Amino acid sequence: MLRARMATSFGLEEIWTERLACPACKGKLRAEPRGSAERLVCEGCDSAYPIRDEIPSFVDLKKTDQAAEIALRDDEATAYEGLFLAWEGFLEVTPLVRDLAPRRSDWVLEVGAGTGRVVREYIRNVSGVMAIDFSIESLRHIRRSLRLLPDAQQKLVPVHADACALPIRDGAFDRVLSVGMLQHLPTETHRARAVGGMARAIRPGGRFVLQARHWSKAHAFYETRHDSKWARSVAQALIGNASGSIELKRTAHYADGTVLLYNTTGDELRSMAQEAGISVERVVGRIHALKGMQRLGAARPLIEKVLERSPLSLLAAQEVIAVGTRMG
Ligand SMILES: C[S@@+](CC[C@H](N)C(=O)[O-])C[C@H]1O[C@@H](n2cnc3c(N)ncnc32)[C@H](O)[C@@H]1O
Ligand SMILES: [Zn+2]
Repeated sequence: MLRARMATSFGLEEIWTERLACPACKGKLRAEPRGSAERLVCEGCDSAYPIRDEIPSFVDLKKTDQAAEIALRDDEATAYEGLFLAWEGFLEVTPLVRDLAPRRSDWVLEVGAGTGRVVREYIRNVSGVMAIDFSIESLRHIRRSLRLLPDAQQKLVPVHADACALPIRDGAFDRVLSVGMLQHLPTETHRARAVGGMARAIRPGGRFVLQARHWSKAHAFYETRHDSKWARSVAQALIGNASGSIELKRTAHYADGTVLLYNTTGDELRSMAQEAGISVERVVGRIHALKGMQRLGAARPLIEKVLERSPLSLLAAQEVIAVGTRMG
């Protein structure tokens, strides 16, 4: 299988050794044995990382404290995309690909790529995509989902790794993208580590698109004036009954407690990106949970576009997106 792939557009081993680095010491990795690699070995600290089914694995399930979350993601890998409605893909993914502005010569790193909902929308327009996730079943799903597009399948390089300890060589990618992953990282330190790692992976001048679940200004306004009836009425009038209910909490968990949902503000996202060395072009809100938005039907994408460019962008958006470039 590996040999068959290596005869095609690029050699996997070459990509692994050129673009990956040891997550422990950033040392160079070599494939062993050469030709049909079973593991990657660090030339700096001798750590060895197994390759399973052509997927290098940097996640040690015995050492991580997120094993339950990883198991949940593995279990839901085949069903995950059934959770989305077609219009959500259109409203959410299309503008993200526009932000990414992929070019034919680009190598893209997508972190928290999941089952490839976003990967599939741009992979045909770039040279290669390294998809990172800590759910190996999700990565296998991406590969399967591309089987009818052999050219695209050959551009995919899945890597099983933790976003907070990225095994990536500095400056190895032209573009880095992450969608809906940041909100699941357990603490501010984890989030800063992930954003720092993603920023370092971009070559100077390369592009960064980071999307996270958003803590809207309307929610913040309501939370700080919880006892006030008029504040509740204002918040209710703006966002009540829309999917971003006014009762939304800034920090919540999935029903079974395994997955965290942290809501990031626009300012937080901007400063995280800036501290990581990104020159931020814009921070915008999307998928507006304003009352009545769901009834707009075919006009919604246009209204969303107008709102995104307006000063109201972050008022009641469910997603926040930072777009920028890596400083030289
Ligand atoms: C909400 S899903 C989004 C998936 C995909 N980006 C999309 O938009 O369809 C979040 C993904 O992030 C992954 N993830 C969460 N925490 C992670 C971590 N620390 N390291 C790597 N992947 C992580 C999960 O396994 C899951 O696939
Ligand atoms: Zn090492």
